[in-house]
Amino acid sequence: MVGVGLDELPPLPDEIATDPHAGRLDPREWFRDPSRPFEIEIGSGKGTFLVQQAAREPGINYLGIEWAREFYAYAADRVRRRREASGELTNVRLLNTDATEFIRWRVPSAIVRVIHLYFSDPWPKPRHHKKRVIQDRFLADAWRILEPGGELRVVTDHDELWAWDSQHFDRWCAQGPTPHWNGTHPAYERIPFDAPDPAGEGELVGTNFERKFRTEGRSFNACTLRKRA
Ligand SMILES: C[S@@+](CC[C@H](N)C(=O)[O-])C[C@H]1O[C@@H](n2cnc3c(N)ncnc32)[C@H](O)[C@@H]1O
Repeated sequence: MVGVGLDELPPLPDEIATDPHAGRLDPREWFRDPSRPFEIEIGSGKGTFLVQQAAREPGINYLGIEWAREFYAYAADRVRRRREASGELTNVRLLNTDATEFIRWRVPSAIVRVIHLYFSDPWPKPRHHKKRVIQDRFLADAWRILEPGGELRVVTDHDELWAWDSQHFDRWCAQGPTPHWNGTHPAYERIPFDAPDPAGEGELVGTNFERKFRTEGRSFNACTLRKRA
């Protein structure tokens, strides 16, 4: 199965109200070899990045999380067909849910090597800013689930979203407490974005949206936050 089913992800238990750990499970167990490095893509869309990257890196397990049902179904079918045709992509699973909620309530600490976030929805209206993926709460949750030295990789075409992201990243890469963070050292180190192998000539990641936006002549911003232990 490519899609993660209810048998693998049961509903959150009632105990979650008093015990925030009560809903945690180990998503690495959803893969044929759970001992492999584990990476998550938030908002995997039609699955282009996952398909390219997972074929190139068969020793890494990839979980794509997509909350739009039609894109999730499209990507899952794409992975399934390629699996049947070539035997590749047994290292990919797809989950149809809100990635930020899944990360907060389900994922145990320090198990994720990379979180990929490419061309995240910009939600331009101020009343919708709370729907953006990058929030202080999210950066605390991402820090918790990343392995020491693990990375959050971000690319966007949207200047105003980039300004929002950068303000958050600056806080989380600076000394001193931040909302949801009382550490005595910066939570993350900001480093240049390193294009993964499957990206084409001149591309950052080679997702559907990147290719579409390139033909429109848009420019992009990208960076990586590395978890400081
Ligand atoms: C602009 S599209 C980019 C898709 C793909 N990453 C690409 O570059 O082609 C953003 C995607 O993220 C999904 N998305 C946004 N917020 C999400 C969330 N909190 N959890 C899961 N998916 C989300 C949207 O449904 C949409 O498919």
